[in-house]
Amino acid sequence: MTKALYRHSLDSNFPVAVKGDGVYLVDANGKRYLDGSGGAAVSCLGHSNARVREAIHAQIDALAFSHTRFFSNEPMERLAAELISDAPEGLTKAWFTCGGSESIEAALKLSRQYFIETGQPQRRHIIGRMQSYHGTTSGALSAGGNIGRRAVFEPLLLSATHHISACFPYRGQREDETAAQYGQRVADELEAKIIELGSDTVAAFIAETVVGSTLGCVAPVPGYFRRIREICDRYGVLLILDEVMCGMGRTGTRYACEQEGIAPDFIALAKGLAGGYLPLGALLVGDKVHKAIEAGSNVVMHGHTFTGHPAACAAAVAVQEEVRSRDLLANVRKMGGMLKSALSEHFGNHPNVGDIRGRGLFLALELVKDRRTKEPFDASLGLAERIRVQAMQNGLICYPMGGVVDGKRGENVMIAPPFIFEEQHVFELVDKLHRTFEQTLKYG
Ligand SMILES: Cc1ncc(COP(=O)(O)O)c(C=O)c1O
Repeated sequence: MTKALYRHSLDSNFPVAVKGDGVYLVDANGKRYLDGSGGAAVSCLGHSNARVREAIHAQIDALAFSHTRFFSNEPMERLAAELISDAPEGLTKAWFTCGGSESIEAALKLSRQYFIETGQPQRRHIIGRMQSYHGTTSGALSAGGNIGRRAVFEPLLLSATHHISACFPYRGQREDETAAQYGQRVADELEAKIIELGSDTVAAFIAETVVGSTLGCVAPVPGYFRRIREICDRYGVLLILDEVMCGMGRTGTRYACEQEGIAPDFIALAKGLAGGYLPLGALLVGDKVHKAIEAGSNVVMHGHTFTGHPAACAAAVAVQEEVRSRDLLANVRKMGGMLKSALSEHFGNHPNVGDIRGRGLFLALELVKDRRTKEPFDASLGLAERIRVQAMQNGLICYPMGGVVDGKRGENVMIAPPFIFEEQHVFELVDKLHRTFEQTLKYG
């Protein structure tokens, strides 16, 4: 393996992936890995879908690239129409990016532009939530509240970003309150923060509809987002939902917020949009924002060279056609239910599994040293990495992550397999995960 490559973990010796085969990845030695997490909740169609591969080849043969400053292109237009066709009410435009962080940057900047266009330049604050991750670029990292990932870069982050508590019932809900009361209490932190900052100075609130890997597939309690929407409306604050990980069908509906009964002003998308066949993200934009820009400068003050890349959009059109024509969201709900039951059956009484949670094929197990007190393992054990490595030795890709409790302590293992998962894959996954826990948790 070349020493020229600069990689994420400098001392890791990763196998070289050479082939995708349905829900499996194959390395250069011919070893097969069951993809139990779609990478990071990306590969919704697995790794060898014929329709998507053909669509990409055909698009590249016809037109590989044209810059959006000079041309529109067919796949970009088709994809925008497809995403808007069943988007939550009021979302009428789709803007394309190369990934999740870029989608978030676009949402933050368009929020600011909206208030300039509508004569409210004092609105500059962005409120996010603790332990959320919105991406790695400076604006997205600033909006996120993941202490561990922010720490080194703190002096460089945007000072106009602030954070309230996450909605995380397993660790946050008190014994003397119902889930609904808990949801109201943490949602009301938004109102308190808006008032603290100055009620007409806040531009946007940003949250993951279902929190991804940093907390481990945490869905909101019923009513939480309705209360958030009410507060945003009362104070004229835009609502950005980050569905980079939980959107595009992963929780059983195309947009995760459909299950909350609310519509935001923006939805950020990526990952499952093109299923990993090519890099692509999108930002769905609400009509209110669009109309203000149209009536004002009439220019979106943002952009990238590769916005609306024809081949990436063609891949996404094919991915979404495949999901729709095979009714794969029904399979997400069915296999998600089966997988959650199988996880509960095998790990529900495990002394180190504190919680099993999530929606659709977006599930996680939270690991604890003590189930009764919910005390996490010592961070110095590096348990998440140990589990990842051991699972790969067992031929399983899952997505363990540390820092659930405070950015450092607390591990969860995310399971987010392709939407084409079948019953036998559920059994294989649970069996391999079981073996992995037996080999790793004994060190705890
Ligand atoms: C919820 C969420 N938002 C944003 C991002 C950033 O996306 P990307 O890595 O494509 O820039 C991620 C990435 O994991 C994510 O999980």
